[in-house]
Amino acid sequence: MIQFDLKDKTALVTGGSRGIGLAVVRAFLDAGARVWYASRTRSGAHDELEASFPGRISWLQCDVTSEAEAGAAVERVVADAGRIDILVNNAGITKDNLFFRMSLEDWDAVLRTNLTSAFLFSKPVARQMTRQKSGSIVMVSSVVGLMGNGGQANYAASKAGIIGLVKSIAREIGSRGVRVNAIAPGFIETDMTAELSEAVREKSVQAIPLSRFGSSDDVAGAVLFLASDASTYITGEVIRVDGGMGM
Ligand code: NAI
Repeated sequence: MIQFDLKDKTALVTGGSRGIGLAVVRAFLDAGARVWYASRTRSGAHDELEASFPGRISWLQCDVTSEAEAGAAVERVVADAGRIDILVNNAGITKDNLFFRMSLEDWDAVLRTNLTSAFLFSKPVARQMTRQKSGSIVMVSSVVGLMGNGGQANYAASKAGIIGLVKSIAREIGSRGVRVNAIAPGFIETDMTAELSEAVREKSVQAIPLSRFGSSDDVAGAVLFLASDASTYITGEVIRVDGGMGM
């Protein structure tokens, strides 16, 4: 039977306080999972989610760029739940600039938040999942990681790096029952894209066959598919969620 539901599954989502991460947290709760989200601040939606899904959501205060804090977050989940079935590496930032003006500081900050954090969480989680002989890791890349983008050399490099990380881990631990995949969103309506000017928005929409920006829920649907047992024969894959922009 095809299984989209996550009943009795334990999930950890980084950067789950708002935007795409929050939509993933909601989708997982709706699908029956017990969810932990790791972010620096507690979600504005936390109380509402706790009321709707009592005892199934927990916040882990965490800077995802810290090895100690990432390790402690994973340890907490394993101590409480005894296992981790799903990890979503979602936390990310942008610090855009033209390449010649890009500082090493902004390069390092974006690589560390977007790529190194995925390494820091995936390592202890993959160890736990290989012990369990099951698990699904989903990483949030970007179409920019596939296509490149002027003004986003640091961000594009971090998102391309995610794809290399996904495919390498997928090859290493597939035989032990763990799947590793990426999604590559295009333009999605969140705080991250809220700063775009009207002119950039209009031009971007013209390049999207579905003629609109995506929603966080559009992305969460693809993450749910890859996290669930509906995708048990898929690993090392990158699914674009971009309204057709990158085809
Ligand atoms: P957002 O800015 O709304 O949310 C980012 C999340 O990451 C927040 O929860 C924030 O607290 C968390 N975060 C950032 N740095 C952190 C740190 N050091 N420690 C702990 N948490 C941290 O952004 P959005 O749009 O929801 O992005 C989520 C992911 O989707 C990111 O990886 C982003 O690169 C990716 N993405 C977004 C697209 C878009 O158009 N919005 C397109 C393609 C990819």
